Amino acid sequence: MKLIIASNNNGKVREYRDILTPLGFEVLSQSEAGIRLDVEETGTTFEANAYLKAKAIHDIARCCVLSDDSGLEVEALGGEPGIFSARYKGLATEHERRLAVLEGLRGQADRRARFVCCVCFLEERGEKHLFTGIWNGTVAEREEGVNGFGYDPIFVAEDADGHTTASLPIPFKETHSHRAKAVRMLTDWLGSG
Ligand code: IMP
Repeated sequence: MKLIIASNNNGKVREYRDILTPLGFEVLSQSEAGIRLDVEETGTTFEANAYLKAKAIHDIARCCVLSDDSGLEVEALGGEPGIFSARYKGLATEHERRLAVLEGLRGQADRRARFVCCVCFLEERGEKHLFTGIWNGTVAEREEGVNGFGYDPIFVAEDADGHTTASLPIPFKETHSHRAKAVRMLTDWLGSG
């Protein structure tokens, strides 16, 4: 069955293709499906934004669609950067956005945070299924490590022995992360159908 990944990010498309092809899907990127679209993320939750992206593609293609939306929620910052993780405070680089989080937590004892990933799967007839994975942890005092992307250098997952996600071996993140959990929920559901 045809499945379009609602993303223009080639890395993301490749990862989903590797996971979903063995389950019987013919996985296509947006561009492979001939769809040129950059959906504005106007929702107020990860779930709403993931659905917006998937629905826009489904309205055009009327086949199965998968999208995701993710970010870092910091308790003492009232849940920020949250859905604004990729554009926090309008800062241009990931490094600047990480520094903004560290600055916001300066002198703060409560450094609890969590990564959230919501995967939205739309069936051919448009029926919606949402899977949300959460990775609890804390924000480090400073950047550490070179692996990963985004907030990985300042996030210390509760199951990571005090190391930032960016200083862990890559396979650890691939099996323990918020994204891994959401995708596992999706594949469990697909496998049970
Ligand atoms: P999107 O889900 O592709 O829109 O990504 C949202 C933003 O959240 C990214 O640009 C990162 O800043 C942040 N983010 C999401 N997942 C991760 C992760 O696994 N590590 C680090 N940052 C992440």
